[in-house]
Amino acid sequence: MGVSTSLGEGSTPLVRATRRASGVFFKCEGLNPTGSFKDRGMAVAVTRAGQAGARAVVCASTGNTAASAAAYAAHVGLEAIVLVPAGATASAKLAQTRAAGARLVQIRGTFDDALRLARELGERDGLVLVNSLNPDRIEGQRTVVTEILEQLGREPDLIALPFGGGGNVSAVAAALADAGVTTKIVVGESAVRASTFASAIRIAEPAHAANVAMLVDEGRVHIVSLSEGELRDAWRALAREEGVFCEPASAAGIAALDRAGVGDAATVVCILTGHGLKDTAAVADEHTADSVEATLDAVLEAVE
Ligand code: F0G
Repeated sequence: MGVSTSLGEGSTPLVRATRRASGVFFKCEGLNPTGSFKDRGMAVAVTRAGQAGARAVVCASTGNTAASAAAYAAHVGLEAIVLVPAGATASAKLAQTRAAGARLVQIRGTFDDALRLARELGERDGLVLVNSLNPDRIEGQRTVVTEILEQLGREPDLIALPFGGGGNVSAVAAALADAGVTTKIVVGESAVRASTFASAIRIAEPAHAANVAMLVDEGRVHIVSLSEGELRDAWRALAREEGVFCEPASAAGIAALDRAGVGDAATVVCILTGHGLKDTAAVADEHTADSVEATLDAVLEAVE
């Protein structure tokens, strides 16, 4: 299986904010093939796993890695074994994973339990772990920085993104350093990691915590710990004020900026990591869908 795999990942839109300070841009990673940034790294990791003669790829996931691994594995004819925390994964992500024919195992435990088990499985013959502990994932995820630099035609002063396990901020920091630019990074994490409503980043023990701590010590990364309200407000405002619908976790970067401010940064890029359609239950929780009679009066009353 020497074929390299691509489902058309990357080349995502960089959208200028209309209702925020000029110079704020959204990098819409939800427009990747499976609806999240994971596809960039998964294309590389699954290609390499195939080249190494793997029978199956294995991952733990809060949902997006699962959907991505399942799709890329299907594309090259590998099996995907996916461990997710039972009852804690958005249904669209489970649907994507099932549709691609992955072996989906719901663990009665947390994402952190699932990751521990996936790492153990990944040690077995013929199985390759495709979580971001696999350096091929990080390599692929670096491409977002190259694209941002190309699309802007200059280096941004600031890049903001969510901090879950820390794989993505590690990839972004490495790519910025390689490009020789001094862009600072702000990341938003949930203050209640183990129970946040943003299920994509419901991770108690970030796998890349040591590397992120080092980046903080070096002054390259600033971490903002967000309340549920801050995260929800930022997520809601993106959809309502900018027309950009991302999943709740994806708004952690912009929520971090809302709190920390942008200082004297003139050009700011927020990486929005996953599509809003990934987690429609988060919206449904906020709105009750009342129906009305099929009359003009009833409609007018409803929209008043
Ligand atoms: N945003 C989204 C939409 C995610 O799905 C994730 C992680 C992150 C941000 C955090 O990225 O872990 O590199 O810091 N999702 C993983 C998954 C855990 O299984 O899909 P990170």
